[in-house]
Amino acid sequence: TSVALAFSGGLDTTVCVSLLQEEYGYDEVVGVTVDVGQPESEFVEARETADAHGLDLHVVDAKDEFAELCFESVRANATYQGYPLGTALARPVIAKAILDVAESEECDALAHGCTGKGNDQLRFEAVWRSSGLDVVAPVRELELTREWEMEYAEEHDLPVQSGNDGVWSIDTNLWSRSVEGGDLEEPGHVPGEEIYEWTENPATATETELVQISFENGYPVALDGEELDPIELVRALNDRAGAHGVGRTDMMEDRMLGLKVRENYEHPAATTLLAAHEALEGLVLTKDERDFKRRVDDEWAQKGYEGLVDHPLVDALEGFVAETQSRVTGTVTIKFEGGRARPVARDSPYAAYSEDAASFNTEGVGDITQTDATGVAKYHGFQSRLANAARAAVADP
Ligand code: ARG
Ligand code: SIN
Repeated sequence: TSVALAFSGGLDTTVCVSLLQEEYGYDEVVGVTVDVGQPESEFVEARETADAHGLDLHVVDAKDEFAELCFESVRANATYQGYPLGTALARPVIAKAILDVAESEECDALAHGCTGKGNDQLRFEAVWRSSGLDVVAPVRELELTREWEMEYAEEHDLPVQSGNDGVWSIDTNLWSRSVEGGDLEEPGHVPGEEIYEWTENPATATETELVQISFENGYPVALDGEELDPIELVRALNDRAGAHGVGRTDMMEDRMLGLKVRENYEHPAATTLLAAHEALEGLVLTKDERDFKRRVDDEWAQKGYEGLVDHPLVDALEGFVAETQSRVTGTVTIKFEGGRARPVARDSPYAAYSEDAASFNTEGVGDITQTDATGVAKYHGFQSRLANAARAAVADP
């Protein structure tokens, strides 16, 4: 019998390779590493660990598909409790790629190294459980702790993540980097600079910088006028925004199971693109669209967080999003400044904006003049004036 394992080369999945053979009795473990834009060093690590184990390792490139999903999340301004979704978006893409390998290799089961406390187990299994294959979760089922895993890895001479020795659980993809565990679990612990890899200390980035981001139908397409494919664009922006310390999150997160967990994230490009996209929507969408879209965006983000981007509701929400995004074309200038990405200019051929109407320096637009507002001003607050008179009567009959 054989099992396809979601394999990253990190501590959890490295320990799982041995356990799937020794404890679960699988004859063969097929390791699958899915490329969603994590750094090259992780593939080297995964390869080295796989070789040390004699593991059959498949590396699947899912970067394009993942980048597309990231850009769908931009169109929906998707954040969860304030940070751009990252791991959550990658999981369904990874899960699908692993399932494809499991099916073509005729595996009997699928395995992941997620704990029974987190979100990732739910996101993987939401995809896998439609397949009819067995699902195995050694870390959860054997109730493993990270300390136990570290000892086990040492005893069995298993290589684990370099530089980190498995102290933190790190998840990296094109869009974001998450660091959790170890001393970071303590909400009162101030993390050192060493947890950050994508962002400079904002205090040391003194020079400001402008970047122009162009959108077509809500999709980011160019930086400073240069057209880039989604992967190149995100990578370039991660570098540029990261150099200014843009895109750090340190938060208490409410996970799906109800647990609060301390989380640290880095997401320079995502922060920048989301800020730019919202700024452009501010120029082209009507107030009513913006107000309603916020609710649609929240629903999209919630399903995204749950790893359920294939939910029928998501398609329905995207129908609305697509309708609004047909005018979200134009360019936004972002200023990187003190660890922040601040929109400072926006421009679109589809602006729902009339300078003549809004300007303090013009009389009006068309046949509408300032004096036309007099009637509106007379009516404004009419009902509350009546109600306040009644309240005064109640207080002093
Ligand atoms: N809590 C975050 C999320 O649900 C991050 C999960 C990170 N996963 C990991 N295996 N380190 O998206
Ligand atoms: C895990 O618990 O396996 C990682 C964190 C998460 O899934 O939320």
